[in-house]
Amino acid sequence: MKKISIAIDGPAAAGKSTIAKMVAHNLGYTYIDTGAMYRCVAYYALRHNVNFHDEEAVNALLKDIKIGMLPGGRVTLNDEDVTSSIRANEVSMGASIVSSYAKVRSFLVSQQRELAKGGGVILDGRDIGTVVLPHAELKIYQVASIECRALRRHKENLERGIPSDLEEIKKEIADRDHADMTREVSPLKKADDAIELDTSDMTLDEVVAHVMDLVSARV
Ligand code: C5P
Repeated sequence: MKKISIAIDGPAAAGKSTIAKMVAHNLGYTYIDTGAMYRCVAYYALRHNVNFHDEEAVNALLKDIKIGMLPGGRVTLNDEDVTSSIRANEVSMGASIVSSYAKVRSFLVSQQRELAKGGGVILDGRDIGTVVLPHAELKIYQVASIECRALRRHKENLERGIPSDLEEIKKEIADRDHADMTREVSPLKKADDAIELDTSDMTLDEVVAHVMDLVSARV
């Protein structure tokens, strides 16, 4: 069967990575979480006391950053496992800031294209269908209401024993979306040929089944 490339873009906490992982598992495809790569840059800046807003200083760090996207989904930064550390809230906010820098984006986009070459891949992010893989055979723009996204994230936090405040999460998500949609370089937007999928009233299984149908029509 033909191995295609799948792009999933959309706002923060829309469940893109959960769906991408499940679909990748069903198809035997490689899943690449591009948000984790921006998080690595922010995490490295944080560790080196570099202000996220200092573009020159953040750019200067790139030459020292080696990101590993391991097959099981773990993420390494200069060979250190940072899979959990990059999920911290301050790293999310930092990622949203450093991702607006052209040099950071071109540094990561070229790695993402390299990882995706050959097909049989699902990438999720903000600019996959528009910039990273403009020729992807299937592009999905996954959205859900802000209430729904915040509530899902809140429940996830509580399940993991992480203290969580629903209103704060809502604000954090809205701020991040605003920054991602209004930045100059590769802002978050639906590619013209992407299929919009509103998952607000869908179960996980329904979303996965729907995406699998879309894949079947293309292989
Ligand atoms: O997807 P995730 O929430 O982990 O992404 C963290 C941040 O990285 C996003 O808020 C966005 O600013 C940035 N990002 C991006 N382009 C991507 C993936 C993530 O700008 N392809």
